Amino acid sequence: TFDVTFSTAGHDVPPTLYGLMFEDINHSGDGGLYAELIQNRAFQTVTPGTSAALTAWAALGSAKISVVKSSSPVSSALPNALSFAVASGTTSTVGFTNSGYFGIPVTAGWTYTGSFYYRTPSPPATKVSGSFTADLRSTGGTVFTSATVPFTTSSTWQQATFTFTASSTQTSVENLFALSVGGSTVAGLTMEFTLISLFPPTFNGRENGFRMDLSETLLDMKPAFFRFPGGNNLEGETAADRWAWENTVGDLVDRPGRVGDWGYINTDGLGLYEYLQWIEDMGMEPIMAVYAGYSLNGASVASSGMQTYITEAINQINFVIGDASTNAQAAIRASMGHADPFTLNYIEIGNEDFFSPTTYADYRWADLYNALHAEFPQLHYIATSATSGNVPTLSPTPTYWDLHIYSNPICLTILKDFFINGAFNFDILSRNGLQFFQGEYATTTENSGAALTYPFIDGSIAEAAYMAGFDRNSDIVFAASYAPLLNHVSSTQWTPDLITFSPNTVIRSTSYYVQQLYSLYKGDFYLQSTTNTASSSVQWSVTRDTSAGQYFLKVINTATSANTVVFTLPFTPSHTTGTGTILTAPSGTQNTPTSPNAAVPSTFSFTAGKTITYNAPGLSLSVLVVTE
Ligand code: AHR
Repeated sequence: TFDVTFSTAGHDVPPTLYGLMFEDINHSGDGGLYAELIQNRAFQTVTPGTSAALTAWAALGSAKISVVKSSSPVSSALPNALSFAVASGTTSTVGFTNSGYFGIPVTAGWTYTGSFYYRTPSPPATKVSGSFTADLRSTGGTVFTSATVPFTTSSTWQQATFTFTASSTQTSVENLFALSVGGSTVAGLTMEFTLISLFPPTFNGRENGFRMDLSETLLDMKPAFFRFPGGNNLEGETAADRWAWENTVGDLVDRPGRVGDWGYINTDGLGLYEYLQWIEDMGMEPIMAVYAGYSLNGASVASSGMQTYITEAINQINFVIGDASTNAQAAIRASMGHADPFTLNYIEIGNEDFFSPTTYADYRWADLYNALHAEFPQLHYIATSATSGNVPTLSPTPTYWDLHIYSNPICLTILKDFFINGAFNFDILSRNGLQFFQGEYATTTENSGAALTYPFIDGSIAEAAYMAGFDRNSDIVFAASYAPLLNHVSSTQWTPDLITFSPNTVIRSTSYYVQQLYSLYKGDFYLQSTTNTASSSVQWSVTRDTSAGQYFLKVINTATSANTVVFTLPFTPSHTTGTGTILTAPSGTQNTPTSPNAAVPSTFSFTAGKTITYNAPGLSLSVLVVTE
């Protein structure tokens, strides 16, 4: 039995404590949060003439398709186009299809919004007019919904738009978007197409917006912040490949895209503006990273070359918070629809710069910090290199540090790399003004060393034990986020992930529910309670929502058998029966595509009094809510 008393002494819980870390990995952006359904929509970064350039595209009927470098591209950012050639004498239907990001959802009642650019490089002397049919169909050819899209031949680019509404829901996502036309209409013609786009309804109805179900799944966590755009995906394989904000804003035809750090094309349709608008819609605040002159090939930008990236970072921040009437970057933001500055308090300078501690310490940190701080003194700057082993001495001394930890549930050998035994990691740190961001963490293996495909209950409860340390140390831990966040079930680069999805399903992992419970029951004040030890199989935390007069008693039992905790309250609750929420499951339980709800939270009642005796089941996170 564990006896726990708590007083009314403690400290504030920062409102930023629990949030999200995002980068485009596992097709979490393109093919994930970003709702665009057409993969390889503008043939960005591909090599014309190759079969890889045609990823996701296929010809219909006798048409010949290939990706070409257009002799008159739609924009300098999008040099390539799909060439669609139809032989003279063709009479049967011709066209092309796209298989989406590993499938396309067809949902009854959804109105899909589509568009594409097209031209006829060598149009016939007499203009040809006709109609394409845009549709969603099964791979077997059953058409679910369609629209007629008129066209006229012209050597200049035209944009066509259309909508269609599905009247049935298909459980299979093995569907295609097709654009087709009667062969006799286009016989003998070669046409070019690009930026072929199709959106389902989006979160908050935003144009060029975010997927609804994923947004709502994240909203259910009530996350406080959104760290973006990386992660490794900020850095680029080389400096030239980095995430560069200016390539991600403005009209979609002006966004060249890039090969992301996780090996696939980032369209950058999910650009800086879209991130910020969605973050605002979701009630979060951004923790925005700027490129800090270090890329994944291990090379650092030379000191003499840093000014380019300093200017880029200043411009990036001005895009977010500058005065649109006086600043050119802010004016772009206003032209996109947000005249007022977005909220911005935190800037992260780089990502994992402990991989190049010398250059970060010698000049990269100082160059960026000094320049940004001079320009934007009101912002908080986060250094990215605080981890054991390679901690450089930075000057100016950072006030905010980002730490990353991936490990198994228990690891006794490396002091920092544990969750159960690391629950007191932050308790031993001095209170000297430094604030910590646990910007990435996750249990990635079983204690046996076996890699996880999905979070499992043992690891998730270990994370919960570790997170009690965030609550307790939230005087110096201002933010924490699990990573990675999202994983497309058909394109995985990293496991485990907090949420796995397909084109039409979302699987909330056991770790998702742990994150959710901590976030929902964060409170605004942490109450000091009986001192525990890291070796204890039971951890706890007591926080309070002051205005509601509610106390949140979290109990984490990492043992596989039950443990009893007796809380002695400093007041008598106003009720004799309380409600709690618990996540628990047998050892090894995972939520997977075939068993998505193997472990979900449930509610329970308990007897409330000045003393509360709670029997915590093995492998459980419980939150008991008590009202004063
Ligand atoms: O979360 C996956 C990766 O782990 C991130 O991109 C990187 O910051 C860390 O190494």
